[in-house]
Amino acid sequence: MIVDINDIKDRILELEGLFKEVFSVSSIEKDLSNNPFSHYLVYLDNDEIVGFINYYDIYDRVEIANFNVLESYQNKGIGNKLIKSVIDKSKEKENITLEVRCDNKKAIHIYEKYGFIKTATRKNYYNGVDGILMEMKLMKEKDIYVLGIESSCDETSFSIVKNGTDEIATIISSQIDIHKDYGGVVPEIASRAHVKNITFVIEELLEKANMTMDNIDMVAVANGPGLIGSLLVGLEAAKTIAWLYNKPLIPVHHIAGHIYANNLVKRLQFPLLCLVISGGHTELVYMDKDYSFKKLGGTLDDAVGECYDKVGKVIGVDYPAGPKIDKMAKVGSHTYQLPLPLNDDSYNFSFSGLKSAVINLVHNEEQRGNEINKENLATSFQETVVEILAKKTVHAIVDYDVKNLILAGGVSANSGIRKRMEEICNDRGINYTCPEIKYCTDNAAMIASAGYYAYLDGRKADFTLNGQCSIELK
Ligand code: KG4
Ligand code: ZN
Repeated sequence: MIVDINDIKDRILELEGLFKEVFSVSSIEKDLSNNPFSHYLVYLDNDEIVGFINYYDIYDRVEIANFNVLESYQNKGIGNKLIKSVIDKSKEKENITLEVRCDNKKAIHIYEKYGFIKTATRKNYYNGVDGILMEMKLMKEKDIYVLGIESSCDETSFSIVKNGTDEIATIISSQIDIHKDYGGVVPEIASRAHVKNITFVIEELLEKANMTMDNIDMVAVANGPGLIGSLLVGLEAAKTIAWLYNKPLIPVHHIAGHIYANNLVKRLQFPLLCLVISGGHTELVYMDKDYSFKKLGGTLDDAVGECYDKVGKVIGVDYPAGPKIDKMAKVGSHTYQLPLPLNDDSYNFSFSGLKSAVINLVHNEEQRGNEINKENLATSFQETVVEILAKKTVHAIVDYDVKNLILAGGVSANSGIRKRMEEICNDRGINYTCPEIKYCTDNAAMIASAGYYAYLDGRKADFTLNGQCSIELK
């Protein structure tokens, strides 16, 4: 538990006794009465004082003066929590600064994790040891420009987004035409195409935004889930830029990115429910604040986009089949009976049974010599998908009493799903948001938006950041 020293004033001497080296030449009592800007937060573990942080709150900026955790309590995340609480209290400020001995690697590591950047070195500042000045830029007074990088699958994309909501410029180089002939994305071809495209995409972005890397405040990159070879290309670019231009490096979960595509349309309102529907994911995610994700349920087998693509193969529609089946569904009628998959009270989904039902239906009709009406089959399939997604979504909306329903992922471009979800929200008087069609599929604007909130949540990475094919959203 973290408390303000003013709430445990009778324990000031105890605190000074525990951290003798820090307080040998000063006293907290004196500091508090002489310096109206000075604040102390104390970490209590079962009512025992085990750490503290002292900071100055000086109008539009904050300076961390001192922080320490008892040796036997170090490496338990207590220092992290103390720093995080100062960051949380400083949201309205311009920046937080501090000085640290260059040999205090542990403290420097924690500060860097939260997005502090080394801004200067003071030679021999601590009796022969250099002092390092560090700064974390905060939000209110200054616009924050995030460079987003996305290369998880078959789109190479870079974007600049201001303050998590305002898109400045985005470039998306799609490989759809390259992979079309193979009926799906070929990982090795995808990563090679990323390597070929990436420098052109960066140059084009800076030109379109009329900016240079000096105007960028941080680099956010999708580090998973995705195809490992593809992810690594974006990651190496991100690390190089972050290192070369001394910018914080922010890892972003690809699905968090899809969720934040909505934030570019309208600021997210909490608590919210997100229906994540893409080629690799089908999930219901609950959020009570920014960058806090709770998965309520997900598919037990195929993702809904995958199901669209596999059904497409059976009825002779090119990859990616989702948009084409959606188009066909608009002109057909619901004439084929298909089972409502996993029609139970859980928040989970299952689409492999529905896919098999379509395959069996097509084969049976073929064996009987009957011609399939593809438009009618598309409508029957799509309405079945919409029905089950709607049922589970309403269930979660009611159980979690959310204010906002949002859609995320490539399949959220689907006209039937968008229409039904909007109706559900109108009926219940809750807010509905869906991403712009062009940002339903993979793009870097969503990564840059999510990156801004990941940064505020203290999720900075170091240069050991790696790509992960499969990584949980949390
Ligand atoms: O999110 P995304 O670009 O890639 C993944 O991260 O998976 O989603 C791609 C998926 C493909 O399966 C594609 O067929 C599907 O989204 N999709 C659609 C529609 N547009 C794209 N599915 C149904 N209806 C659509 N209009
Ligand atoms: Zn995606």
